[in-house]
Amino acid sequence: MKIIKTTKELIEAVNEVKKTKTIGLVPTMGALHGGHLSLIKKSVNDNDFTIVSDFVNPTQFGPNEDYERYPRTLEEDAKLCKDAGCDILFAPSPDEMYSNMKDTTLVCPSYNDVSKLCGKSRPGHFDGVATIVSKLFNLAKPNRAYFGQKDAQQLFIIKKMVRDLNFDIEIIGCPIVRESDGLALSSRNRYLNEENRKRALKLSKALFTIKDLYKNGVNSAETLIDTALTILDGEDIDYFEILDLSNFEKIDIINKDCIALCAVRFPQKDGTIRLIDNMVL
Ligand code: PAF
Repeated sequence: MKIIKTTKELIEAVNEVKKTKTIGLVPTMGALHGGHLSLIKKSVNDNDFTIVSDFVNPTQFGPNEDYERYPRTLEEDAKLCKDAGCDILFAPSPDEMYSNMKDTTLVCPSYNDVSKLCGKSRPGHFDGVATIVSKLFNLAKPNRAYFGQKDAQQLFIIKKMVRDLNFDIEIIGCPIVRESDGLALSSRNRYLNEENRKRALKLSKALFTIKDLYKNGVNSAETLIDTALTILDGEDIDYFEILDLSNFEKIDIINKDCIALCAVRFPQKDGTIRLIDNMVL
């Protein structure tokens, strides 16, 4: 596996590989865990050549968010990528990716898509995500790109961006990977203190509970959300919503594929940790 830090080197490598091979891209911000590894393994399985990007993207963090604190573990990430069969690990610096960050061209998803869920509480977040993902698509020229379903709104927005901007790339969403007790894997879990690690289980408990209720015939979104909010009672809930999976619009009676999504903040002495989770009903 080669570790590449400059866009020039990546473009050169990709131009050579592209002549004969299919390329899979796994965009990450590093601090890799089992969820990322499932994406990398799927890419290695589906493509001749796999590129993993490892870049904590400053443009998707708000001024009071955890950009500085976000875990950076390049050495361990490189080992995991190599063992998983990755061919290139692309780990640029912020200056390499943005020559003038304050005055850069942005890719902005539609207002309708960013004015809800994580986009509502993290203004500008999805502009940063769509921008960096577009840049990575232009650099890595992948046939396929792999994203986790845990970031469901991100996956929805990227699929739409690919359609709207005519990227010739297949976007593959991969299932959420959970700890044995149900907690969805996240790079931020490592910062949870013991008490919040226990409390964080309420997210998956709420989701699994309403999925069971739905399977047993309860199809009112309001009833399901009320049940979930009771389980999450006492926590700092950012949102809990049930949306139509096809368009991420609100739905009252569930009569088609829907997704329940939640975000909860866990304040700690060393800063607040915000976790998200979701489940298709
Ligand atoms: O999901 C993430 O880790 C990031 O949002 C992504 C897609 C790598 C863009 O920085």
